[in-house]
Amino acid sequence: MASSKPARRGRFITFEGGEGAGKSTQIKLLAASLREAGLTVDETREPGGSPRAELIRKFILSGEAKPMGVATEVFLFNAARYDHVVNRIAPALSAGTWVLCDRFADSSRVYQSVAGGVDMALARGLETLVVGETRPDLTFILDLPAEIGLARASARRGASDTADRFEAESLAMHECIRAGYLAIAEEEPARCAVIDANGEPAEVASAIRRIVAERLKV
Ligand code: TYD
Repeated sequence: MASSKPARRGRFITFEGGEGAGKSTQIKLLAASLREAGLTVDETREPGGSPRAELIRKFILSGEAKPMGVATEVFLFNAARYDHVVNRIAPALSAGTWVLCDRFADSSRVYQSVAGGVDMALARGLETLVVGETRPDLTFILDLPAEIGLARASARRGASDTADRFEAESLAMHECIRAGYLAIAEEEPARCAVIDANGEPAEVASAIRRIVAERLKV
């Protein structure tokens, strides 16, 4: 009788950082390199990543949820995250797929708690419930002075479009977001790697690829 060998669990890599840090470019470049190495890769993002979570994304980023308060926003991000984890990330990892995700639970810690003022115990409690065993194996924190990131994000958006809910926050808040990420990296050095995002995309990509090779042996 043919025995089907269970697939080895894939690896879960998240990308975090402030606005304009170049996360989506770097995810594409890393995904291409991992596919060349023979891996199956799923590229996804938060908030969103599953059809129902994308609906919650639209509601939050339009600014419609803002009057409900930042505590409600952290519940909404986590509701979206739960659907994404259960329906996309966890099944992919079980099937042996490597998942690259643009933002994940660290974004809630930093944007809603460190910068937004929601009790960190609430954010961490929700994270434990929602993420469960589906923790990232590796998190890249793309680090950039807030001023440079915001200028990049507004150039990318173009003059006609308005800033989304979080891009429209003050420079001071974006500095606070940067500091929040650096504090997470200090607290969890085994999971996190801080990358200087102020270089050429190709240089940033090779720094990321080197760390994936060192830490995840691929
Ligand atoms: P997006 O357009 O995807 O921005 P970026 O390119 O910066 O990732 O918008 C996502 C926004 O949502 C971003 O400003 C960060 C914010 N966010 C939170 O505040 N909390 C969260 O838990 C997540 C996942 C995102």
